[in-house]
Amino acid sequence: MNSARIAGVESPMTAKWPLPFVLVLGVTLIRAAGPAVTIDTASPSGKVSPLFYGLMTEEINHSYDGGLYAELVRNRAFLDDAATPAHWSLVQADGSTATMALDPKEPLNGNIGASLRLNVTQASTGHAAGITNEGYWGIPVAPNTRYRASFYAKAAPGFTGPIAVSIQSDDGRTIYASKTVTGLTSGWKQYEVTLQTGKVTATTKARYVLSVDRPGTVWFSLVSLFPPTFKDQPNGFRPDIMQMMVDMKPKFLRFPGGNYLEGDQIADRFEWKKTIGPLSERPGHMAPWTYRSSDGLGLHEFLLWSEDMNAEPLLAVYAGYSLKGAHVNPGPDLEPYVQDALDEIEYVMGPATSTWGSVRAKAGHPAPFKLTYVEVGNEDWFDKSGSYDQRFAQFNTAIKTRYPQLKVISTVGFEQPENLRVHSVKPDVLDEHYYRTVDVFLKMARGQYEKYDRRGPEIFVGEWAAYETPFEPWNARSRGEPPTPNLRAAIGDAAFMTQMEKNADIVVMNCYAPMFVNVNPGARQWRPNLIGYDGLRVYGSPSYYAIKMFSTNLGDEILKTTATDTEVLTSVTRDSRSGRIYAKLVNASDADAPVQITLTGTSTLASTATALTLSGDPQSTNAIDTPARVVPVTSTVTGVTSGFTYTVPKHGIVVLTMRTR
Ligand code: AHR
Repeated sequence: MNSARIAGVESPMTAKWPLPFVLVLGVTLIRAAGPAVTIDTASPSGKVSPLFYGLMTEEINHSYDGGLYAELVRNRAFLDDAATPAHWSLVQADGSTATMALDPKEPLNGNIGASLRLNVTQASTGHAAGITNEGYWGIPVAPNTRYRASFYAKAAPGFTGPIAVSIQSDDGRTIYASKTVTGLTSGWKQYEVTLQTGKVTATTKARYVLSVDRPGTVWFSLVSLFPPTFKDQPNGFRPDIMQMMVDMKPKFLRFPGGNYLEGDQIADRFEWKKTIGPLSERPGHMAPWTYRSSDGLGLHEFLLWSEDMNAEPLLAVYAGYSLKGAHVNPGPDLEPYVQDALDEIEYVMGPATSTWGSVRAKAGHPAPFKLTYVEVGNEDWFDKSGSYDQRFAQFNTAIKTRYPQLKVISTVGFEQPENLRVHSVKPDVLDEHYYRTVDVFLKMARGQYEKYDRRGPEIFVGEWAAYETPFEPWNARSRGEPPTPNLRAAIGDAAFMTQMEKNADIVVMNCYAPMFVNVNPGARQWRPNLIGYDGLRVYGSPSYYAIKMFSTNLGDEILKTTATDTEVLTSVTRDSRSGRIYAKLVNASDADAPVQITLTGTSTLASTATALTLSGDPQSTNAIDTPARVVPVTSTVTGVTSGFTYTVPKHGIVVLTMRTR
């Protein structure tokens, strides 16, 4: 960044942008110039929707299991693979012998229909035998940290323990933390211990081991290990990943999906009733992104997650269509699904005295959650049977009859052909999804929403992301690109955000997708993604920083702007309480752009402003080992007047905060 730009106010003479020039053609003056933006501060052109900028989530790329959900044990209920105890192996020290196998004849209960049987035929002190879990690409170990270990176990007659519970290096040579459990019986019982590490070097090359030092037979179920969680909540979330989201100040959380809501088949849908209650009552289910979900992060946890971020839940209910094409016929066949959605809404917002509100209260949350929007299904334009129109209408009527205050979202927006949209009723909101190249986003930034009818429906951009490679996001399984996009993609995103912000009276909500990716090999199914992590670290992509820049500097009023050149994409909003004006300026070109900024209608403009800038080599990016290559830089801009020039760096995204009081 050059010093002139840090000062922020430049004369056009210092800039690389072509100087304004004037051609005299007869009596006509034709002026070609760099960008000029006039901001009318006197009369806002609209209100920014109070739910502007949110987050979208689903189980993809190991977003929960192996991601936000802090459980470290993979396949803790031994249900991931019906044939073998996937991600588990035997530990046999010199001189010990043992076998292990899935045992469907000794299930924990009717929900967890199998257990793991460990049969130790030979073991002694110093020569233990047991089982070990590899975790999600290793068990992450941190120094001076407490872990909550728990498991259900029962033993064959004659064996009462002890069982050694430990976190070890993956070669077993170093024991990072260990405890023993005794008193096993022939009935299932849950055992819990705390493991405390000392001054160890943080590593993910570790394993979790349950072992015995004498012969015997033991069955295990729901073997769990939790590190410290956000706000120390049991069954909680990784604090570092939570903090990344909290820092974005999201207004809502769209859950549970995405395709994850639908499932490949109807039987694989997100059946919310199977995701609540004690973990021992949650069987988990096959999810569409190639792996099973433990459902440890279920409906109740989604709600707590929203609350922890001070965000509103945006609930998507299953609407009778699944990804591989099966649908439920509208009418009587669909009624049980409609009832299920009504029950779900009651769980979220019903009083603690209601049937499902009381279940929520029993789970520890007597107060209803705030709910404004309910989405019916996901991407139902894929349902080529044409049933969505009637399915939507059936849900819409039932929801509005019971909860007239709720706004109902159709999943088919104006970006889809007319014949796939809902016509028999007018949805309150349409959800539009855009996964497009940077160039397409730059085009959309120039007017996409200006033509939308202000009488509604409102627009929810429920999934969007610009990508910078020639590959489509859904073909991301086997290629070598990094899991998160580069600055060029962030510029496409930011350009599109200026368009959504300018139209934030009608585009009432938006959220980038997908949000998460575990960066370990084999963990991802999609790119680009917003936030990457491994077991111990987390980082934000340039797109993450672009969205955070926009979402944390927003205000509540849209100011009318006129631009003489659309090379620099602009949106301007104001916080009516503080009088702060936020000008977002996005320069996708490879030349610095001096922008002539004029503010009309204010006489109280402070002479300094703050610039938050994300710029650099468009190919540069962040990664797990280099998390801060592309991050915003704050600088002070002097010489701000009602007419001044500000240079937006090439490949740059700037939020210019001007004060008027
Ligand atoms: O965000 C990834 C997927 O993209 C979502 O599951 C789906 O809704 C969309 O097609």
